Amino acid sequence: MKVFSQKMQISIEVDELKAKHLTVGLVPTMGALHQGHLALVKKALKENDKVVVSIFVNPTQFDNKDDLIKYPRTLDDDVELLKTVSKDNVLVYAPTVDDIYNGNTVSQKFDFDGLEFEMEGKFRNGHFDGVGTIVKRFFEIVKPHRAYFGEKDFQQLTIIKKLVEKHSIPVKVIGCPIHREANGLAMSSRNTRLKPEYKKAAPFIYKTLTTAKEKFGTKSANKVSEWVEKEFAKHNLLKLEYFIIADTKTLKPVTRKSNKKTYRAFIAVYADDIRLIDNIALN
Ligand code: PAJ
Repeated sequence: MKVFSQKMQISIEVDELKAKHLTVGLVPTMGALHQGHLALVKKALKENDKVVVSIFVNPTQFDNKDDLIKYPRTLDDDVELLKTVSKDNVLVYAPTVDDIYNGNTVSQKFDFDGLEFEMEGKFRNGHFDGVGTIVKRFFEIVKPHRAYFGEKDFQQLTIIKKLVEKHSIPVKVIGCPIHREANGLAMSSRNTRLKPEYKKAAPFIYKTLTTAKEKFGTKSANKVSEWVEKEFAKHNLLKLEYFIIADTKTLKPVTRKSNKKTYRAFIAVYADDIRLIDNIALN
């Protein structure tokens, strides 16, 4: 498996593939790969001849220094895991911070038409400028035909679609369903840091989301939110940061339900000092 650490190398490699009329998919990740990431890679392999997986813990999207320092970095294991999917058709791009930022580790500022001010944008200052900066950079370096993002980070996926539209970037953005543990917990690189009692408690998040979905069939968004808040207030390990039912397109909180619109419930929870997010389609 080819592993590149410099943008020039990966860029030349992809140019050569394209010269042979091969299609190229991109799966951007921050590593500590799990089956959720692999599902994206497998889908990308079905739809493209070659797939570039980028592995880069992007400093500019972390508003919390401690989270950045503690983020798991497991490049050798990640490469081994990717080999189990395909040795020949997956290429890894694992750059250094300098290769990407040239000594100036700051974000570009973006206008995502307000999508960036909802939910994660409210609680993680500057996060989406950081995500926009790195993903735009990867699009420029790799120039893929298609790029794959998980619905696990639904707001991120929506924002990347907006980024591509506003900057006329020639790439097709493809969303992929949330991959879960058998107990319902959404897979995340952060799960490896959960202490046993929190790991045991965490499936409560998805369980609450599925019940909230049921309740949304007959109750108002406000009533459902109140119920979720009460459930978490009773819980002695998990702390709710937000639960929001929002319009799938604008990501704005729902005020009055309309059957012409689609909604999703979004949640962020602290398990000890580890922040977990999840979401579910409601209709
Ligand atoms: P990371 O958290 O590593 O996730 C990489 C991709 O995998 C994202 O598109 C994410 O939504 C998807 N993913 C993670 N867990 C998933 C799951 N359980 N089911 C389905 N998809 C899942 O998201 C990032 O990295 C970064 O913000 C990045 C886009 C790479 C920019 O730095």
